[in-house]
Amino acid sequence: MKTEILIPKNEIRKRVKEIAEQISFDCKGKEPVLIGVLNGVIFFFADLVREISIPTEIDFIRAASYGSKMVPDENIQFTKDIEISIDKKPVILVEDIIDTGSTLSAVIKRVERKGADSIKICALINKLERRDVTVPIDYCGFQIEEGFIVGYGLDYNQKYRYLPDICILK
Ligand code: IMP
Ligand code: MG
Repeated sequence: MKTEILIPKNEIRKRVKEIAEQISFDCKGKEPVLIGVLNGVIFFFADLVREISIPTEIDFIRAASYGSKMVPDENIQFTKDIEISIDKKPVILVEDIIDTGSTLSAVIKRVERKGADSIKICALINKLERRDVTVPIDYCGFQIEEGFIVGYGLDYNQKYRYLPDICILK
């Protein structure tokens, strides 16, 4: 399949810096726990964390969706859980892309149950076309209407993650 650059790496870098500055400002005096939703988030997460100028803790969670998308939350299983304590701590969930919203809504519920003091959402890409669960997004890199995106960590059948730019799969 062919790929076409949608957002070049220099634009990604610039936007990641802006989001990091905003988070550093909003969370000043706190030490938020940044939780990355694996695997797609890896490069975004690594770049973001290093641009944030306040102390943070980091951890990861991995969610996999099974079966039909008819009953969103019940189809999400966690194949890697958060390991550090988030009890009474401010949490920022970091996602690669929000599509239907079901993965994120299941992750939010899990983080709530683990006693987080507050939960903010940070997503590299907000894709609007197929949204069926409303999720509040506090920090958003880029918004797109539709299409399938790969690169900068995002995959299609585990391929294309290595591409440095965000690309459209043709
Ligand atoms: P949701 O539960 O429908 O919001 O799906 C979220 C997950 O689906 C993301 O974390 C991605 O792993 C995957 N996904 C959705 N759209 C795309 C895309 O355009 N490119 C790559 N992965 C995607
Ligand atoms: Mg993902």
